[in-house]
Amino acid sequence: MATTFAKAAEKSAPATHAARIGHVSKSFPGPSGQQLVLDDITLDVAPGEFVTLLGASGCGKSTLLNLVAGLDSPSEGTIETPGGRPALMFQEHALFPWLTAGKNIELALRLRGVPRQERGDRAEELLDLVRLSGAYGKRVHELSGGMRQRVALARALAQDSQLLLMDEPFAALDAITRDVLHDELTRVWRETRLSVLFVTHNVREAVRLAERVVLLSSRPGRVAREWTVDIPQPRRIEDSAVAELSVEITEQLRGEIRRHGQR
Ligand SMILES: Nc1ncnc2c1ncn2[C@@H]1O[C@H](COP(=O)(O)OP(=O)(O)OP(=O)(O)O)[C@@H](O)[C@H]1O
Ligand SMILES: [Mg+2]
Repeated sequence: MATTFAKAAEKSAPATHAARIGHVSKSFPGPSGQQLVLDDITLDVAPGEFVTLLGASGCGKSTLLNLVAGLDSPSEGTIETPGGRPALMFQEHALFPWLTAGKNIELALRLRGVPRQERGDRAEELLDLVRLSGAYGKRVHELSGGMRQRVALARALAQDSQLLLMDEPFAALDAITRDVLHDELTRVWRETRLSVLFVTHNVREAVRLAERVVLLSSRPGRVAREWTVDIPQPRRIEDSAVAELSVEITEQLRGEIRRHGQR
């Protein structure tokens, strides 16, 4: 009883951040001893904020996201997600192919403890939210790549988490589908007021989506620089303001890549 009350009190206190990454370092065992992948990363995501994490391939973006997700532990430093376990979405949709779109979402609802009689309606609502009404009974192989990522987004939203972690979720899609999903994600984010930490190595995508872009250096990954994106939403990827800021960020990213001899 006391625990329940403490939890309720905790929930009602306004959180100052959705995620707090404090002086986080991460090393993995390598052929010549421990390899430092992330070095002293400090970063907050505010409630309702949309942050993109940008960096060259191999700089540690997924490693950092996995730490925030609680899938791995930092070697040093602390990670707090006061709103509870974050929802996750990857490049691969990771839907169960033997379940329909609706049942994939219902599974997430069941794991969250939503009563059976409410799950069907809630799954339909979530499919509406990602503009997939009518897809409830469709199996994964009947859906296009873009539709699968919409279902994956609906399933992530089914977790009712305050923080959504996304690791290059649109990287495998063609440019037009990706563009449509950028619009959808922006709309869903504004409607739900979720906090989003979105990983990408696509500069335009980072600027198109985020309120703040954080650039990581490579080997080891450190916060190299960050930009507040003041361009009003909804934005288009071809907007001149998006292009202008992208050019500036790309220059910095190129500098990081040159410094560390990556592609
Ligand atoms: N579990 C692990 N064990 C050992 N090394 C790892 C592990 N996970 C990641 N690494 C190493 O950490 C570095 C960063 O990997 P990570 O996957 O985080 O990069 P990334 O920035 O997400 O790259 P990409 O843009 O290609 O997805 C790489 O050198 C990788 O080999
Ligand atoms: Mg990655």
